[in-house]
Amino acid sequence: MISFDKISQYTDSLINLKPDETDEIYAYLSNKKHPVVKKDVARFLAQTVMIRQPEKILEIGTNVGYSSIVMALKLKKGRIYSIDYRADHHKKARENFLRYGVDDKIELLTGYAQDILPGLEMTFDMIFIDADKKGYSDYLDFAAAHVNETGIILIDNMFWKGSVIEPPDTPDERNISGSLTDLNIKFSKLKGFNAQILSIGDGLGFAVKEK
Ligand SMILES: C[S@@+](CC[C@H](N)C(=O)[O-])C[C@H]1O[C@@H](n2cnc3c(N)ncnc32)[C@H](O)[C@@H]1O
Repeated sequence: MISFDKISQYTDSLINLKPDETDEIYAYLSNKKHPVVKKDVARFLAQTVMIRQPEKILEIGTNVGYSSIVMALKLKKGRIYSIDYRADHHKKARENFLRYGVDDKIELLTGYAQDILPGLEMTFDMIFIDADKKGYSDYLDFAAAHVNETGIILIDNMFWKGSVIEPPDTPDERNISGSLTDLNIKFSKLKGFNAQILSIGDGLGFAVKEK
């Protein structure tokens, strides 16, 4: 059977047939080995924003702003709140937002998600989780409780490079693949949500809150 990698290479090659304005920053960040979402995931985030036009988006894990930019470029009136504990990442993200003319649509919240989330007194139409994998289970609990009716939760890296499907003989020290294996089960059974994991990027969780 054809491998998942080969399918990704093929779909990426098709995506690359039509260049867009974020290709340059994607190429730069990928070269520098920044852990940003894959292009197919970026495209899916953009499409979700285009279809839904969320008023409020929460992103957990800004890095230097690639996925925020991808979403903000398609956002007409909404606002993105993006969390990262690294001030140096946020400094770079601000420069990138200015470059792409989206700085007025994004509010950066600098600090550990674990500290910031409990103080966020709002609900969101879309929540995108892409930070420390060990925190995912708590972030999912937060998202499930803070997403509006028909709101969307997206979670990146749910396949963890395939290790949730073929676990390594010796798990890494923090056993991230074990945590994600548990998370995927929890996510798939999420009460009140229509949830599934899409085979794009490194596995993208996609859940919509039922009415
Ligand atoms: C995978 S990167 C995010 C990539 C970004 N979403 C993109 O595609 O452009 C993960 C980010 O989460 C941040 N992070 C990790 N643990 C965190 C935590 N506990 N609280 C807040 N941010 C965290 C890291 O500093 C890193 O920049």
